[in-house]
Amino acid sequence: MKHVAIYPGSFDPITYGHLDILERGLALFDKVIVAILINPQKKALFTVDERLEMLKASLEAFPNVEIDTFKGLLIDYAVQKKAQAILRGMRAVSDFEYEFQMALMNRKFNREIQTVFMMTELRWIFTSSSIIKEAARFGGEIDDMVPRIVSRRLKEKFHQSPSPNKRISCIKNMTRYRKK
Ligand code: PNS
Repeated sequence: MKHVAIYPGSFDPITYGHLDILERGLALFDKVIVAILINPQKKALFTVDERLEMLKASLEAFPNVEIDTFKGLLIDYAVQKKAQAILRGMRAVSDFEYEFQMALMNRKFNREIQTVFMMTELRWIFTSSSIIKEAARFGGEIDDMVPRIVSRRLKEKFHQSPSPNKRISCIKNMTRYRKK
């Protein structure tokens, strides 16, 4: 039997922290479905199509990954995709309460599907899509925290000129970081 996990999120936008969790998830599962929640109630910086574009470009080198969107309850989507697990990243203690609530609610709905938490590499512990967006909005340097396409799209959103092509690919970049 193939072990499938859903890696759900807003991915507004995807960061190296997300890629780190995905890479770890792929070491445990045969396939990981990266799924963007379509949530008209939540104000996002990027449209779902823009987020999909960034996910596709950032994840093209990852094997066994499917990219998708979903609406409604995550647990219903997980059942529909025949997934056994939900993959979530856990950074600092501040993530704990929300993640705990969500995992327990999902378990109440369906005891068969497990939530698996993974810790990012230390360097990503304090990064989040929100803080990166805020930094980018005010011209802060975010190139080493997000894939190249994301830094380009953030600069376009905030009308800044793109930085020179510093990196070859996000995967190479992550590998380089790990070697330090
Ligand atoms: O990246 P995020 O915004 O932290 O992701 C949150 C997400 C999409 C995983 C969560 O909001 C979600 O699963 N929403 C779908 C509705 C749902 O099933 N909620 C949890 C149980 S009520």
